[in-house]
Amino acid sequence: MTWAAITGWGACMPPAVLTNADLSTFLETSDEWITSRTGMRERRVSHVSATELSTVAAARAIACAGLKPEDIDLIIYGSCSNEEAVPNSSSGVQAALGATHAAAIDLNTACTSFLYGLTTATAMIRTGVVKNAVVIGVELISRYMDWSNRNVAVLFGDGAAAVVLQASETETGVIGSVLGCDVEARPALRIRGIGCGYAGRGVSFGDTLWDFDGQVIFKRAVKAMSDASLRVLREAGVSAEQVDLVVPHQANLRIIESVAKYAGVPMDKVILTVQKYGNMSAATVPVALVEALEAGRVKPGATLLMPAFGGGLTWCSLLVKWGDRVTPLGSSDRELPPCNQTALELVSAIRAEQDPHGRSAAGLKAPVFSEGQA
Ligand code: ACO
Repeated sequence: MTWAAITGWGACMPPAVLTNADLSTFLETSDEWITSRTGMRERRVSHVSATELSTVAAARAIACAGLKPEDIDLIIYGSCSNEEAVPNSSSGVQAALGATHAAAIDLNTACTSFLYGLTTATAMIRTGVVKNAVVIGVELISRYMDWSNRNVAVLFGDGAAAVVLQASETETGVIGSVLGCDVEARPALRIRGIGCGYAGRGVSFGDTLWDFDGQVIFKRAVKAMSDASLRVLREAGVSAEQVDLVVPHQANLRIIESVAKYAGVPMDKVILTVQKYGNMSAATVPVALVEALEAGRVKPGATLLMPAFGGGLTWCSLLVKWGDRVTPLGSSDRELPPCNQTALELVSAIRAEQDPHGRSAAGLKAPVFSEGQA
């Protein structure tokens, strides 16, 4: 039987750090509020495109696996941050990597995009469609954040990470996936202003309005991730005690603590990055995984639980069996160009580009297809 081992990993974090104190220079908020409600202290703001972040992360993952870009037959770009719809973003990463033999798929399930991508790539390897795949989780939320809305602006950050999957005869990689979507809660998270529904409505890209019901998302996220985690463990015949590490989506420290409690796993087995990176949507789980590996917290043969939720509200929990190797086979010299601005300067520039009157545009509130939308 063929499995899909995770043989390479790499992250690419933009260097500019936006602190809670920075946010309170232009929003009515405080370090105390953000830290006590979410656990977040800092997040990153990117000075480059999502494609550049992804390319560096993927190059590092490919080198870590001891492969060359030409060896890759599939790239999945898991994200809701796209420079353009056509051509897709995965082909942009493919071009920048020189991965000339790869198929290229964009996959958007919001914050679960990386884990849905991991499940998809695993299935394609296990059925023999491809042999070597790169799965990327990336987000550039700073470009379409509504920086005037303190309900959402404090919660998110930019970042990217990638893994390489390779066909293997040993039972490793994703050994269980439970996926679903709580569609009743679909209206709880909608970013108005992005997509063809807004074409010709006088809306500029980057001018967004967020429909966001944090408390609904909070409760449904805890339930969905906990239920999915218990189910993926039960179906795989693995007990909570046998889980070595939880690598969860990082939207809120209190959500993570609740899910760990329901799943029966102590917090000292949970990887946390929320305090320094905030919620990077699709990038959160792979970045946390890479940091766990670099910190020596993933041991050979470890069992990893990966629960997540995102807009939709999509949800999932994956069970991963690690292989023998926890150190890289090689490294890449790909780096981001230097960043000459502070995060606050980057955000100020984005705010200046956004149309201050754009958010009151009728088209933002009423996309072309609004009558037919849930
Ligand atoms: N600074 C100061 N005050 C704020 C801020 C802020 N940044 N944001 C909101 N407030 C105010 C609100 O206006 C409200 O004031 P009011 O009581 O006068 O009306 C008060 O703080 C309390 O707001 P609550 O919504 O009750 O705060 P809560 O404890 O629920 O925390 C939070 C809000 C952090 C968003 C929480 O609900 C949450 O984590 N939700 C789920 C996570 C989430 O939605 N993440 C993003 C989703 S995307 C994804 O990952 C899929």
